[in-house]
Parts: sequence; structure tokens; C-alpha cells
Amino acid sequence: MVTPSEIQWNELTFSLTPSKTMYVSVFSGNQWHPGVLQPYGNISISPAAGVLNYGQGVFEGLKAYHTKDNVGVVLFRPRDNARRMIESCERICMPAVPEEMFMEAVRNVVQSNKEYVPPYRPEATAQGSLYLRPMVCGTGAVLGVAPANEYTFIVFASPVGPYFKTGFQPIKLKVDPHYHRAAPGGTGGVKAIGNYAVGMYPAKKAKQQGFSEVLYLDAKEDKYIEEVGAANFFCIIGKSIITPDLNGSILSGITRRSVLQLAQDQLGLKVEERRLTLEEALKADEAFATGTAAVISPIGSMTFEDKTTIIKDGKVGPYTQKLYETLLGIQHGILPDPYNWIERVV
Ligand code: PLP
Ligand code: COI
Repeated sequence: MVTPSEIQWNELTFSLTPSKTMYVSVFSGNQWHPGVLQPYGNISISPAAGVLNYGQGVFEGLKAYHTKDNVGVVLFRPRDNARRMIESCERICMPAVPEEMFMEAVRNVVQSNKEYVPPYRPEATAQGSLYLRPMVCGTGAVLGVAPANEYTFIVFASPVGPYFKTGFQPIKLKVDPHYHRAAPGGTGGVKAIGNYAVGMYPAKKAKQQGFSEVLYLDAKEDKYIEEVGAANFFCIIGKSIITPDLNGSILSGITRRSVLQLAQDQLGLKVEERRLTLEEALKADEAFATGTAAVISPIGSMTFEDKTTIIKDGKVGPYTQKLYETLLGIQHGILPDPYNWIERVV
């Protein structure tokens, strides 16, 4: 295990650096048993576990941040993650983790691993954070395709840096009509683990071609924008901020809903949640992707069938910049938090 003093805070990427402890609770006999903090490490499960054979698993992602003066550690909208995980569990036929249990777990994990929260560095353009990964999976043995009879809820944590290698620099997207991440009636609207394996092949191909990520279109007509890998898509056209509506195959991002609120209240933009064609998005004044991991990542170009459209001359647009500064300002306690989005845990 890496000790906090060995971590090079300014060289962190979005990769695993295990911290000291993790929270574990088991569901059996129709109830969740009290969770415990234990040293981070491997768990032992049956080869017939529901998660290994039939993909019965869901996860969440949220970050703990140091405030600007490094006196406290806060979480951003953690109850939204707790509620989304309840919806995800229900869709995959797993027992939901009660909101208060989720909150206790994330609080305990941050408090126990507080030395692993990257310090706030005023000079840095991209701040580090302690990424929390709550997950629930079917650990009970099962042979027929059916819900398992035992589940495990784990929260582990890792200090992380920027999701995209380039940090807060415009990313290059490949629009790939050959692959879809989610279909109508499927599980795209929840954080089911199976949604992520299907994106690895198209993402691998896109990265080999020099792109940062894949921009997915809808599975039915190949016409409307869905998501950017594991992040939501936004564009700005004139005085409107437009993002695909939550049609069931798009994840309801917590960063997405925060950006919509800030754009309306603080930037005076008109919010439009609706179907958005690729054709329209290619004419955008600015575009960006949002997510806990991706934060706000400006989009510099979109390539569709060998034609590359450059957005905002490949630079970060003023609205994107302002939204980024406002969101980070609230997350690090630099700006007031009129929405009560941050919750202090240390
Ligand atoms: N879309 C997908 C598919 C994701 O996995 C994520 C990450 O959680 C997001 C969007 C962004 O959601 P959030 O802002 O809640 O992290
Ligand atoms: C997140 O933004 O937290 C995600 O879940 C994205 C990803 C790393 C899968």
C-alpha cells in the first residue's frame, strides 16, 4: 500500500492508488448487516456469484475535496449519489442500500482516509480529490439466471487527478455510429456495471486513432446525441445551453443537474433539455462534457465519418470557463454555496 507521504500529489492521474480502509456490509437473510471499516484489500467470493456470471452489480462515484484553506474536507451532493444508487439497485433486482447507510459509509471512509485527500493547491489548474467508489454486487451463488440471495456493499477510495490526460484542455471526440452504449428499454439510465464493459472496445479504437473519447448517438436512429463515454454532453448555441433530455438511456448526472442550475441562475442562459441532433451540435458555439470524474471537460472537436468539426477554434469558451470556475469554486469552498451542495465530513 502507498502511504500518503509517498504520493506525488501533482502527478496524480485518474487511476487507482488504494487508500487505507474500505467499508463493507453484507445483505443476507433479507437484511443489510451493520457495515464495518476494514483494511483495503481483496474479498473472497463464490465462482457462482451473481455479479461474476450475470453482471449483477452497480456503482457510484463521488469525490471528497479539501477546501481552499485545507481546513476541512467536503463531499459534493452525496445524497444524490445515494438516491441514484437506490434506483440502480432496483433496476438490477438488488436490495437498495438505505440512504442513511450510504451516508454513514462514505463519511466513515473519508474520515478514516483523510490523509489521502489531495491538498488544495491554489496554483494548480486541475485540483486532485479523493474519489469514492461505492458499489453493490451480487455475491451469493446462483446458477439459473435469477437474482442472487446475498449482496455486498463496499465503499473504497483512491486519490485521483484529472480524468483526461490533458486536464482542463479541449478534448477530441470521435462520433462512432457503429456502436451504442445503451438502447431504449435497457440500463443506460442507471449505473449498472454492464454499461461500462460495452464501451471499452469503441473507446479503445477511438484512443488508438488519437481521440480522447467516443460521442455516442442514440441506438434507434443514429441521429441524436446521447453521452460522451462516462460523461454527459452539453453545448451552447447563442444564449441557450442544450443537453439531451433524460430519455432512459442517458445517465442522470449529478454534475449535469448542477451545471443546468448554475447556467440558469448565474449565467442567465436558457436551459434546454431536449433531443439534440448531431447536426445541430456540430454548429455549437461551445461544447463540453460533465461528470464527477470528467468535471467539466471542454470539447475541442468532433469527428464524424472522417470529417472533423472544430468547436470554438479548439479553445475553451467563456461560458465553459465560467461554469468550470463556479462549480470548482463551490466544491472547494471558495464561492458561497447557496444550494447546500457541499457537506463537510472532516
Ligand atoms: N454518464 C455516465 C454514463 C456516467 O458513468 C457518469 C458518471 O457517473 C456520468 C454520465 C456523469 O454523472 P455524474 O455527474 O453524476 O458523475
Ligand atoms: C464518475 O464520473 O464518477 C464515473 O463513474 C465515471 C467513470 C470513471 C466510470
